Amino acid sequence: MSLVQPADAKAFEQFPDLPFRIRHELVGNPLLTLPEIVKLVRELPRDQIEYSSGKAEIGQDPAKVQALDLSPEEVVKSIETAGAWMVLKRVDAHPAYRGILEQALLSVAKARGFASLDDAGFEDIQGFLFVSSPNSTTPFHTDAEDNFFVQIHGEKFFHVYDNRDHSIASVEELEASATRHRNIKYDPKFDAKGVAHQLFPGDGVFVPYQWPHWVRTADSHSISLAITWKTKAVRRRNDLYVFNSFLRGMGLPQAAPDAHPALDALKLAMMRTVQATVSPLRKSEGMRRMLRRLVLGKNANYYYNDNKKQNDKEAA
Ligand SMILES: [Fe+2]
Repeated sequence: MSLVQPADAKAFEQFPDLPFRIRHELVGNPLLTLPEIVKLVRELPRDQIEYSSGKAEIGQDPAKVQALDLSPEEVVKSIETAGAWMVLKRVDAHPAYRGILEQALLSVAKARGFASLDDAGFEDIQGFLFVSSPNSTTPFHTDAEDNFFVQIHGEKFFHVYDNRDHSIASVEELEASATRHRNIKYDPKFDAKGVAHQLFPGDGVFVPYQWPHWVRTADSHSISLAITWKTKAVRRRNDLYVFNSFLRGMGLPQAAPDAHPALDALKLAMMRTVQATVSPLRKSEGMRRMLRRLVLGKNANYYYNDNKKQNDKEAA
């Protein structure tokens, strides 16, 4: 079998528009075990590690996330009892992890009749590795990319909601989720609208761009990997969200993407110019932090544990 494949082959007919269950063969890869993850944590820049208490609400207010008094390495080493939720971001920067992501996506590309990742539209490939304690919650949120979410260790309940239903997440909330903080408000009335996938090692879900979801682990620690990519259409929409968010922050109301295509094209041309200037600066963690604050506001660096102290310092 292909490294990653739909549980039902017919699901590919509407790819990448609708979610579906997948099966995969990544369980047992040594890079996705706790001892190797401890090594990875030591190597990753601090701003690529986000962690907090796993005791979060489904509709968690990002300003009230409970911090943990443990180092990232201590969290991984004691994950069975730490009561923690952790994500290691951009593991694609590590060649061995990048290899896993590319092999998985290439298997999908070939199964769909494409010769290469580029041919299949798998651009900007990124990986996010999740390590969670038993009974921990990933709050309701969206992600600004397409995602094959694969379960490696432990059991998870993955709840997905239709992003075309704007009574769940409005266009404004989707923009804020892509630019400010990924979490979105949850109303218990949404319960009946979600689809819950029970995932064991070897299972997974394809989560389309910005389909809202929340996740809870069962009674053992969990290791999962998000294998993500962005198509050209996704990158275009993300750029418009960032540009509109920036203008709105300056007091200029903006229409949703696609409402005025000619204006969207002009905004995108301006974004490309800015990106060409800013990209080299993003190699430094300090510059990344400053740029996030400049474009997205003083709360944009929320994932540092010393967030409150840092924001106080930046506000001073
Ligand atoms: Fe997610």
